[in-house]
Amino acid sequence: MELQHRPNFTNSTQKTAQTLKIREVEYADYNQIAALQVAYKRPLKPYEEWKHLWANNPAYLSLGGRLPKGWVVERHDGRIVGYLGSIPLFYELGGQRLLTTAAHAWVVETDYRPYSLALLDLYFSQKNIDLFLNATVGPAGRDSFNVFESPRVPAGDWGRSVFSITNRQGFLAAWLAEKAIPMAKPLSFGLAGALAIKQAFSFRALPRNGAGHSFQLCKNIDSRFDVFWDCLRKTNPHLLRAVRTREVLEWHFKYALGNDQVWILTAGSNPITAYAIFLRYDNPAACLTRMRLIDFQALDGNIDLLAPMLAWALERCSREGIHMFEFIGFRPEKMRVINQFSPYVRQLPCWMYFYKAAHPKLADKLADPNAWDPSQFDSDASL
Ligand SMILES: CC(C)(COP(=O)(O)OP(=O)(O)OC[C@H]1O[C@@H](n2cnc3c(N)ncnc32)[C@H](O)[C@@H]1OP(=O)(O)O)[C@@H](O)C(=O)NCCC(=O)NCCS
Repeated sequence: MELQHRPNFTNSTQKTAQTLKIREVEYADYNQIAALQVAYKRPLKPYEEWKHLWANNPAYLSLGGRLPKGWVVERHDGRIVGYLGSIPLFYELGGQRLLTTAAHAWVVETDYRPYSLALLDLYFSQKNIDLFLNATVGPAGRDSFNVFESPRVPAGDWGRSVFSITNRQGFLAAWLAEKAIPMAKPLSFGLAGALAIKQAFSFRALPRNGAGHSFQLCKNIDSRFDVFWDCLRKTNPHLLRAVRTREVLEWHFKYALGNDQVWILTAGSNPITAYAIFLRYDNPAACLTRMRLIDFQALDGNIDLLAPMLAWALERCSREGIHMFEFIGFRPEKMRVINQFSPYVRQLPCWMYFYKAAHPKLADKLADPNAWDPSQFDSDASL
């Protein structure tokens, strides 16, 4: 597919506009896309990891690789000046399979910004998609998602993160350095005591280290996860859920597992009765290390195991010197448990999770907050 878009340009870019085209992305575009991500200080995946988003994606493959992987804006001389990825994902609601897609790593060179909306227009015009799910919208993209009448996900707070500090001195040193306060490291030793007092009061009644529970840390995702998913999908089928088969989990966490960036904690050995997934989400620019809860699922919707699993992870974060343990966007009943572990709150730059249903019936269902069980497993939040 090749499209000629003619958005409104200023005089200085008028000439260039006539020789630009938008076309579907190819794997061979990687180097130019990577250069754009670097130029605009966006996170960058190595080539194999970027290609993996489609090349081994169960949803993409099961549709014969026919869906677009995204689009690029290309100049007449072959230079790529804009990119928007589109990652297909299967979800289920009410026993029905839905084809969703996540917009990924949107970037357009400043001189070619009139093309940004043309990329997003192609994304939202995909005919065979049931639901558009975008959980990584930043301040630069928020207004454009409004243009396409893509509302906020109505469940979970996607405008704030709650967290606990699991390495006080390291956290403070990173925070003070970020604020460009001189002598950040020595100062952090003094301030760490004050944080210790606040956290000690918050954590008084917490279960210790998952005491009384036998959890297993999985290095591989095996066939027990298929059995778990088969049971889970029959529990509360009115909830919109990303498909979590063994194949999908292996694809989603392949590189995180290989790089030891993910902890997959299970309860019950065979069958699994609950799992929690934690993923590293460091901010190298701020020298900040953090662990995020990505997903918690339990059979029969029973969340009793959430607290001891969080206690297990909190203790491990402290032991390994990880600075922060963080949570974003869970349903109220999960948040009530999470809040016991998270005395601190930070405002995110903007609301991050937006959706758009392609059919009115689906839109009606999803307007109800009770249809959602959102987590960082959704969309491309942890991809
Ligand atoms: C994402 C992008 C393609 C959107 O392009 P666009 O639709 O033409 O939007 P603009 O770049 O004009 O930005 C829209 C608004 O967000 C603001 N904005 C842009 N980047 C911002 C940032 N990093 N933080 C806060 N606000 C930002 C702009 O000032 C503008 O606000 P205004 O309308 O009040 O002037 C483009 O901003 C871009 O390539 N940014 C760099 C990559 C990026 O940040 N990607 C994340 C996408 S969520």
